[in-house]
Amino acid sequence: MEIVHDPKDFQKRMMQFRAEGKAIGFVPTMGALHAGHIALAERARASCDILVVSIFVNPLQFAPSEDLDKYPRTLGEDARKAEAVGVDLIFSPSPRDMYPAGFGSTVSCGAITTRLEGAARPGHFDGVTTVVLKLFNIVLPNFAVFGQKDAQQALVIRRMVEDLNIPVELIIHPTVRESDGLAMSSRNVYLTKEEREEAPLINKGLRSAYKVFCDGNCSARKIRSHVEDIYAAASFLSTEYVAVTDTFCNDISGEISCEALLSVVCRTKISGTRLIDNILLV
Ligand code: PAF
Repeated sequence: MEIVHDPKDFQKRMMQFRAEGKAIGFVPTMGALHAGHIALAERARASCDILVVSIFVNPLQFAPSEDLDKYPRTLGEDARKAEAVGVDLIFSPSPRDMYPAGFGSTVSCGAITTRLEGAARPGHFDGVTTVVLKLFNIVLPNFAVFGQKDAQQALVIRRMVEDLNIPVELIIHPTVRESDGLAMSSRNVYLTKEEREEAPLINKGLRSAYKVFCDGNCSARKIRSHVEDIYAAASFLSTEYVAVTDTFCNDISGEISCEALLSVVCRTKISGTRLIDNILLV
């Protein structure tokens, strides 16, 4: 396995692979690889000749108040984990190589990026789609694997791929969880010991709401308040939002009559860690 930093050098190699008819699978990440990323890489490994993982903490998707500086950067350890799962190439560019002086383009996917996470983190999805399109153009993958944990991100990237006729197949992999249900995330390392012990409640709230839904209660308002009540009783977190939306991220206000997404964002009170999770109501 090799780590390549230079985008032009990397793109040249990928063009060569494509010319040779090799199938390229791609897992874009910001590093600090955990079992969730490894599951995405395993999924990709099963269907490609060349497996690429990118590791790039993308400054464009962080607001000035967010955790860009403290985001974990663990390239050496990431490389060991990637090699163990059969990754062929890591693409790990510098911010200056990705966004040289004079860089001025933005990919923006419209209304879907202004709701939920887009409302809470204005500009976030423009940063994501801009870097993902750049990565697609450098890596030239046949397919790319994203996690369902970032459900809105997956929907926004799907929008971009459809709108811009990007010839990359998207595979969305189910959320990978710790044994107690907490969704795996690079940000879980910020949690204090006590917060980590309490954090599975976030997923428990979602599963409890799913049961309410399966028992025949289809009122979006009731599902939302069911989750809000569970979280309100927990002293370690505050709820940023609980939303029931369709798959365009439009709020559902009445009965749930289509495939719906129940999304939650909570912030822990001591470390201020932002935890997100979701479940499909189908
Ligand atoms: O999901 C992530 O880790 C990032 O948003 C991504 C897709 C790698 C873009 O920076």
